[in-house]
Amino acid sequence: MKIVMLGAPGAGKGTQAKRIAEKYGIPHVSTGDIFRANIKNGTALGKEAKSYMDAGKLVPDDLTVRILLDRVSEPDCEKGYVLDGFPRTIPQAEVLDRELKKAGEKIDFAIDVEVPDENIIDRMGGRRGCPKCGASYHLKYIPPKKEGTCDVCGTELVLRDDDKPETVKKRLDVYHEQTQPLIDFYSGQGVLKKVDGTVDPEVVFSAITDILG
Ligand code: AP5
Repeated sequence: MKIVMLGAPGAGKGTQAKRIAEKYGIPHVSTGDIFRANIKNGTALGKEAKSYMDAGKLVPDDLTVRILLDRVSEPDCEKGYVLDGFPRTIPQAEVLDRELKKAGEKIDFAIDVEVPDENIIDRMGGRRGCPKCGASYHLKYIPPKKEGTCDVCGTELVLRDDDKPETVKKRLDVYHEQTQPLIDFYSGQGVLKKVDGTVDPEVVFSAITDILG
């Protein structure tokens, strides 16, 4: 099963993608996580990506596509994957489609997690992530058991560099301009499914599993 998660920054794509990956036994592939891991490790790719990410802009398509195609060609992706944060532009979606077609494959579901802009700033300001294992929390909505500490590995939680309000605003603008057109793209392919992302994460997940079966 090949799934694409759509939705604004902070809509809950990552939260839901992790759950989907666990339930359906497929890898969670997040281009944002790949970039952040490279930044943490100080690679050349990380250095290039960081300048775009910190400004709330998209990393250029050619670089992002190369990384994504490399990742999905790994053996663990043979039975499918859930893509989180990719594609983010029509050219990225077109390349993915073309590569899948070559192998006689296609995206089975594009799940759009719908959250209005008003809710997004609140979500981002409260998000805390684990720099070690990648677990994600929210101070108000999904708090860790012990304040400031990851439930999974005990590491101190951090605010993401690009979650400052002014950067979030820019990311939302970029989303509306460059990523939202993908809703029509996947609707045209008959694979688009919308879920309400404003409700409790468990309820969102239940709506998603109703769709995926
Ligand atoms: P990326 O890491 O993909 O960030 P994003 O799409 O902006 O999405 P987020 O990770 O911020 O949010 P999310 O929807 O996953 O929400 P989450 O589950 O964390 O990209 C970062 C940057 O990398 C981009 O700006 C760009 O520069 C670059 N990049 C990445 N991919 C690229 C690409 N393909 N092309 C070019 N550049 C690319 O939830 C958010 C918060 O809300 C959390 O605190 C969570 O706990 C909470 N929450 C989740 N669900 C709920 C709920 N139902 N109710 C209440 N709170 C909830």
